[in-house]
Amino acid sequence: MAKLVIITGGSQGIGRATAQRFLADDYRVFNLSRRDIALSGAVQISVDMVNVDWLSACAEQLVAAAKEADEVVLIHNAARQEADAIDSLDGAAFRDVLQVNLVAPQQLNNLMIPHMKPGSSILYVGSTLAEKAVKGCASYIASKHGLVGLMRSTVQDLAGRGIHSSCVCPGFTDTGMLRGHIGDNPEIIAAITENVSAGRLIDPQEIADTLHFCARSPVLSGAVIHANLGQIER
Ligand SMILES: NC(=O)c1ccc[n+]([C@@H]2O[C@H](COP(=O)([O-])OP(=O)(O)OC[C@H]3O[C@@H](n4cnc5c(N)ncnc54)[C@H](OP(=O)(O)O)[C@@H]3O)[C@@H](O)[C@H]2O)c1
Repeated sequence: MAKLVIITGGSQGIGRATAQRFLADDYRVFNLSRRDIALSGAVQISVDMVNVDWLSACAEQLVAAAKEADEVVLIHNAARQEADAIDSLDGAAFRDVLQVNLVAPQQLNNLMIPHMKPGSSILYVGSTLAEKAVKGCASYIASKHGLVGLMRSTVQDLAGRGIHSSCVCPGFTDTGMLRGHIGDNPEIIAAITENVSAGRLIDPQEIADTLHFCARSPVLSGAVIHANLGQIER
């Protein structure tokens, strides 16, 4: 059986670990990001999803690959996280974050769904911030809440088509995105892991395994899966 994964944001972090996980299970992997995934066996398509027409140059290539596949797993993983707030976030900056984190996934859905056979899946990578808010990243939080809505609509609108969908919501995962915000200061890392019942950061591989499990688990269709090592609420 020909199996295909199309993942966004596979050049590093959770996306790269996920691409590796599916490659190990004999999936053909296509990655969409600005930088190369640099992973033997994966097909790189370089795109900047902040551009509204980012998909036009690669649409034909993606559709051709999906037509050859018996199963397609579409993984909406790419995201950007900015430091911003409700009392200063302007429309243009907000639109850019929504374009990458929320509109681009729907553009890809719109292109791919007609070519996805029963047994296929659409997986969204949310965040603990998909269902709660903290200070100082309003655009990211709004986009992640929206992604849960997109997943729930996917389930409702595709009922009976044999395509399942879930949203995996990672907690603090040791990737470039997290390190970009907190750096390598051991005191800051300790302050974060104090709020995790397991007392450590998540390895990207753990989220990759969860996404792989979701692709194999239609029973989880409609689920928002909190993959956060037991985040402690204060
Ligand atoms: N790490 C965490 O603690 C954490 C927690 C909760 C949720 N998450 C979620 O997990 C997912 C992966 O995060 P991560 O931590 O692995 O982040 P990361 O290391 O920063 O990777 C983000 C990926 O998104 C891609 N990307 C960003 N902007 C893009 C653009 N304009 N066009 C195309 N691709 C773009 C990047 O590729 P290029 O730069 O090569 O384009 C990169 O591969 C995200 O949805 C994030 O919100 C992460």
